[in-house]
Amino acid sequence: MQGHLRVPNDFLWGAGTSAHQVEGDNRLNDWWAWEHVPLVPEPSGMACDHYNQYETDLDIAKRLGHNAYRFSIEWSRVERSPGHFSEEELTHYEKVIQACRARKIVPVVTLHHFTNPMWFAAEGGWASSRSPEHFARYAKRVVERFQYRIPWWITINEPTVLVYYGYLCGTWPPGKRSIPMAIRALKNLVQAHRLAYTAIHAHAKSSDWLFNPYVGIAHHIRCYDPCRWRSKADRWAAKIRHRLANEWVLNACRGTMDFIGLNYYTRDFIRFPGRVCPPWHHDGQRPRSGMDWEIYPEGLRRVLADLKQYGLPVLIAENGVCADDDEVRWDFIRTHVGEMAKAMVGGANVAGYLYWSLMDNFEWAHGFRPRFGLVEVDYNTMERKIRPSGEKLMNLIYSKQIFFDQ
Ligand code: FCB
Repeated sequence: MQGHLRVPNDFLWGAGTSAHQVEGDNRLNDWWAWEHVPLVPEPSGMACDHYNQYETDLDIAKRLGHNAYRFSIEWSRVERSPGHFSEEELTHYEKVIQACRARKIVPVVTLHHFTNPMWFAAEGGWASSRSPEHFARYAKRVVERFQYRIPWWITINEPTVLVYYGYLCGTWPPGKRSIPMAIRALKNLVQAHRLAYTAIHAHAKSSDWLFNPYVGIAHHIRCYDPCRWRSKADRWAAKIRHRLANEWVLNACRGTMDFIGLNYYTRDFIRFPGRVCPPWHHDGQRPRSGMDWEIYPEGLRRVLADLKQYGLPVLIAENGVCADDDEVRWDFIRTHVGEMAKAMVGGANVAGYLYWSLMDNFEWAHGFRPRFGLVEVDYNTMERKIRPSGEKLMNLIYSKQIFFDQ
C-alpha cells in the first residue's frame, strides 16, 4: 500500500557544503597542514573553487528547486589571530548570504565544520580549556557583523565525529589517541556551543530581531543494532553505544538547542564489549555505499521517532550517499525521504531535508574519490554538471508531496 504526505509550504529543501571541502585554498587551518602528511591521499588544493564560484553554485541550487542552502564559515579565514578579524573575509561571507537572499534561498549557517585556525590548534585545540571562549568570541563577531538576520545557525558540526577521528583514532588532526583528551575535547565543544548559543540569542534580542533564530548543533546519529540479536551482551553493547555516541551530546546541550540538526547516514552493528562488527558477521545483509556504509533508510525513521522525546524540531542537516552510480544516489534519496515522510505522518516534527552534498567535494581523509554530489564536479576544469538524481529531487520538491510504501 502507498502512503502519502503533503509537504508543508515552509519546509526547507536543499543541500549542504562545508567551507574546507569546497572553497579551495584554505591555507590557514589545521586540515591544510594535515593534508600534507601521507595519511591523506591528496590535498584539498583548490577543492571546487566555491570561494570564487559560489554564485554559479547558488544558481544551480536555485535551478534544482532548493529553498535552503547550508554552508559553513571558515573560522581560519575570518579570525586571523586571536581577536583579529578580517573585514575582507567577513564581507565575503556577507556576499554569500546576499547571494542566497537574492535567490530566495534560506541560508543555514554553520560556524564550525571540523577545521580550526592554526593559531587555535597551536594553542592546544579543543583540548585546551580556553577553546570555548575563543569560539564564542568568533561566533559573537560573526552574528554581529551580518546585516541580514540569519534564521538558522549550526554552531558546531558533528562534535562526536571530530573527537572520534581526531582524538581517539588519530586519523584526523590533531592526530591524538587518548581517552582523557577525547573527553576533554568533547566537553569543550559542548561548552563552546553553549556559549555561542547564548551569544547569538543575546545579539538577536538586543538588536530587536523580529524573530527568534533557531540555533543548534548538527549531530551525527547512527542506528546501533546488536551484532547478534539473540546475544544479550551484544544487545547491551549496542544500547551503551547509542547512549554514548547519540544521546550524550544531546543531553549535554539540553536547554541550549532550538532544534536538532540531524546528520544521518547509516547503521552499525555492535558486538560485546563495544566493537563494530564487520558486515558479514551480523544478522541481515544489505547493500553498502561507496564508503562501505550500510544503506539503511528505515534507520532515518527510527532516529526521527526516537528524537521526538526532545520536543524540538529536527532539521535533517545531512543525509547522503557516496556512489559512482547515480541511480544508487536517487534510490537512496527516494527511500530516505520516504522514511522521513513516514516519520512525519507519525508525528515527527521535521523542518527540512538537506542532502549531503550539493556537489562532489573533498571528503577529508578520503580525498576527492568519494562522490556525494547532486552535482558532479570535474576537478580539472571546475565544470559543474547536474546529475539526474539532482533533477529527480527537484521534481519531488516541486510536486510538494511524498509517496512512500507502507
Ligand atoms: C559527515 C560530515 C561531512 C561529510 C559527510 C560525508 O560526517 O559532516 O563533512 O564529510 O560526513
